[in-house]
Amino acid sequence: MLNKINELKAEIDALQAAAAADVEALRIAYLSKKGKVSQLFNEFRTLSADQKRELGQAINELKNHATERINVLKESFEGAAEADTDIDLTRSEASLPLGTRHPLSLVRNEIISIFSRLGFTIAEGPEIEDDWHVFSSLNFAADHPARDMQDTFFIQRNPDVLLRTHTSSVQSRVMETSKPPIRIICPGRVYRNEAISARAHCFFHQVEALYVDENVSYADLRQTLLYFAREMFGNDTEIRLRPSYFPFTEPSAEMDISCKICGGKGCGFCKHTGWVEILGCGMVDPNVLEACGIDSKKYSGFALGMGIERITNLKYQVSDLRLFSENDVRFLDEFKSAR
Ligand code: DAH
Repeated sequence: MLNKINELKAEIDALQAAAAADVEALRIAYLSKKGKVSQLFNEFRTLSADQKRELGQAINELKNHATERINVLKESFEGAAEADTDIDLTRSEASLPLGTRHPLSLVRNEIISIFSRLGFTIAEGPEIEDDWHVFSSLNFAADHPARDMQDTFFIQRNPDVLLRTHTSSVQSRVMETSKPPIRIICPGRVYRNEAISARAHCFFHQVEALYVDENVSYADLRQTLLYFAREMFGNDTEIRLRPSYFPFTEPSAEMDISCKICGGKGCGFCKHTGWVEILGCGMVDPNVLEACGIDSKKYSGFALGMGIERITNLKYQVSDLRLFSENDVRFLDEFKSAR
């Protein structure tokens, strides 16, 4: 009998199961009424009292041992029913492709960051505007060509509802509702009725800056521009201001920077002049201050406006404007390392 007990114990130790159903079969084979362990109990009943004393403990231990072994096998399959057996838990995780910031957002953020170091805060205005904020308040004469259908998108043929053609409209909105000192920059999208090509698009992006206070001078404008140019394009950047005309500034200027591609020596990009134009600027015309309710005898100001696409082209040499709005991932991926 002791031999039988030991043999059965060895057999139970070696039990294996490939699935939960096999464990149940083993339970029946060993522990059910007709199972091998139960049969041993039947034989045990026939033994003499002395033998029972000798073997009682061993046979009980065998039963406990069998129960434990089968429970262990059973637990190993628990939860396995839901698990997909094809999953390889040892495989390393596939990396998720990370998105990148759009180059125009990168450059816009950099412009904002430079001007915010000078104390400028962000102001925003609507893209669907009225004539007053885009043109009239900014000193555009009634017959100014920019008001023409050729340049401006009007909404439902209503001459007073239009898509803003520049972010200068935010200037007048801010001046109407706040008192100097005013120091704001206005990033945003603008629209013009242009045929789409590598060099022009019907929408693009601008950043406008406006500073109005007592005694703001042309020297303040020039120094702000120099600071901006050097922060944006590097400390060796030179600037040049050329007289120009805008209805809302007097005097007005356009700013060039030394060409970043040839270092000012002259190349195809700067049309062999060594300079590239990057923005328009000037002293806010007193008519504009008055139209927006600001006393032009007490206050003066400067304003400037630049195209974000233009700055981005200069920084990253993007040759075709259309790339900015096509969202081709191969193009966008090229800006992965930029912040
Ligand atoms: N609004 C002008 C444009 O769209 C850019 C500009 C020029 C803005 C001179 C200004 C400025 O504030 O002073 O071309």
